[in-house]
Amino acid sequence: MSMTLTIVKPDAVAAGNAGNILALLQSKGFKICAMRQMRLSEGQAKAFYEVHKERPFYNDLVAFMTSGPVVPVALEHDGDAVPLLREVMGATNSEEAADGTVRNLYGTDIERNAIHGSDSAENAAIEISFFFSRSELISNQ
Ligand code: RTP
Ligand code: MG
Repeated sequence: MSMTLTIVKPDAVAAGNAGNILALLQSKGFKICAMRQMRLSEGQAKAFYEVHKERPFYNDLVAFMTSGPVVPVALEHDGDAVPLLREVMGATNSEEAADGTVRNLYGTDIERNAIHGSDSAENAAIEISFFFSRSELISNQ
């Protein structure tokens, strides 16, 4: 099994779509290792997206990610979890995301795009440890 991290973002949590999104991910073979609902502090959101701190959208992104509760979820898959999640998640811009993807079904635009997904196995490990301790990660194997 390999692992990745998703975060159901504030737009999708507020719309009541967290359960639907997790059901879609489970239908694609993802299994939940750990999850919680929480509100990100400004410091946490800035740290999580620090890679984007020079980008013009950084301040808006931090404001969006702290605008309401989020649901971080550590996921495992018996395939290659990181690219498989990126595939089912869809393009960053929800308006361009392929039919049937999470962002096509539940996102709105380039910022309010329903979920986060790790972009490499290395970053997945870092991001999972950002939210969960080792003892909180329960494999389904
Ligand atoms: P994520 O990290 O959340 O999984 O999204 P991603 O890889 O598809 O896209 P990334 O380039 O990493 O951007 C991170 C998040 O920043 C917001 N964004 N806004 N206004 C804009 O031009 C813009 N571009 C990106 C989105 O919420 C995006 O998911
Ligand atoms: Mg990204």
